[in-house]
Amino acid sequence: MAGASHAHWSSRWAFIMAAVGSAVGLGNIWKFPYEANAGGGGAFVMVYLAFVFLIGTPLLVAELSLGRRGQLSPIRSMEKVAKEEGRANWWSLVGWSGVIGSFIVISFYSVVGGWTLSYVLEALTGGMSGITKEAAEAHFNGMVTDPITPLFWHAGFMAITVGIVLRGVEGGLEKAVTVLMPALFVLLVGLVIYSGVTGDFMAAVNFLFAPDWSKMNADVALNALGQSFFSLSLALGSIMVYGSYLTKDVKIGKAAVTIAAADSAVAILAGLAIFPIVFAFGLTVSKEEGLVFMTLPIAFGQMTGGALIGTLFFGLLTVAAITSSISLLEPSVSYLEETGKMSRKKATFTIGVAAFILGSFSSLGFGELSDFTIFGKSIIGFKSYITNNLMMPLAGMFMAIFVGWFISRKGMMEELAMEEKWFRIWFFMIKFICPVAILIVFYNIVFGF
Ligand code: PFF
Repeated sequence: MAGASHAHWSSRWAFIMAAVGSAVGLGNIWKFPYEANAGGGGAFVMVYLAFVFLIGTPLLVAELSLGRRGQLSPIRSMEKVAKEEGRANWWSLVGWSGVIGSFIVISFYSVVGGWTLSYVLEALTGGMSGITKEAAEAHFNGMVTDPITPLFWHAGFMAITVGIVLRGVEGGLEKAVTVLMPALFVLLVGLVIYSGVTGDFMAAVNFLFAPDWSKMNADVALNALGQSFFSLSLALGSIMVYGSYLTKDVKIGKAAVTIAAADSAVAILAGLAIFPIVFAFGLTVSKEEGLVFMTLPIAFGQMTGGALIGTLFFGLLTVAAITSSISLLEPSVSYLEETGKMSRKKATFTIGVAAFILGSFSSLGFGELSDFTIFGKSIIGFKSYITNNLMMPLAGMFMAIFVGWFISRKGMMEELAMEEKWFRIWFFMIKFICPVAILIVFYNIVFGF
């Protein structure tokens, strides 16, 4: 029914697991190590962490609180809060941007999620055993350019996501994350220990924590900010919709710090699992997709127990991707459900099928449709550009402006129930620092230097 009060997390723990599950994904395990590598290791890591805690965490607080106040889908929550505060209806555009943006992201996220699924089978069946650099590259390129195989895996990944989301908040999302997230953490720690023992652990520690500031420049700093947004799942409606399932007794400030800390810890642990292997085997990290899909199979193919470790690694990546993809499907599903025209099941199927179809073009963009470009970008490149570089920073900036300038400070204070001192710091960050920092980054992304 339209506007009906919707579901809630059964506990604070369930919510934290869900939000950490959304945050921890391909962005941490696939993208962060690559970005860290490109940004000179330690220097990138330091700047990234500063952005996570100075800009990302205050925004997490803002997005969660908007969702909890609204208790509806991101679009209707923004509409409702704006109305309560006597503000224009067009603030709901922040919600629309989230719902549309998350739909676009899930369409291509599922394609990469499909690759990870296929690599689980590849590792499990010994396909990586003794594989050479050339063979690993040929395998990856062959797989992504094939018209049918990646679509099959993309469909499989989307089917798992739909299967979880249609079961609802408590029965689906919550059940999945409270099992999958601790499993992921245990697997990751296990992998770090294994990498530490068999790989070059000290080289990895040095690389990740000894900053080489000569490699730092404005571009790298911008990448670090973009990565912090993506990694924390900010400004795409996922965090807002998860906030709408929150009960009033949860302290949002504390929750946001926990989410940001867990997300950063996983990114660093992923680096500590991957780089000892990369250094020990003298692997060169070239292309973005290459790090986990082209180089690691070579290492897994050479080490004792590599089939098992490889299966665990790609299994872990798939789990991380699934707990994020469910959060990407949820904003549009919650909106459709709320219109009252569809049951949750029907809404989930509809969005899942539509996202599969839209994603198929991204997948085909690596092969059959590789000549097809939009503004000089591949299909996936274009979708990633408009979401990561345009919609996310814009929606994030407007969210900060809305909360910092257009909502009553007193109301916000009551909603957050933080200690006065922390509230002041948070409010200053959201009112001044976040909008200005995002504006600078946004300007540079769009117009260059
Ligand atoms: N945070 C996820 C990752 O790091 O892979 C991706 C993501 C999920 C981005 C949900 C945005 C979002 F709303």
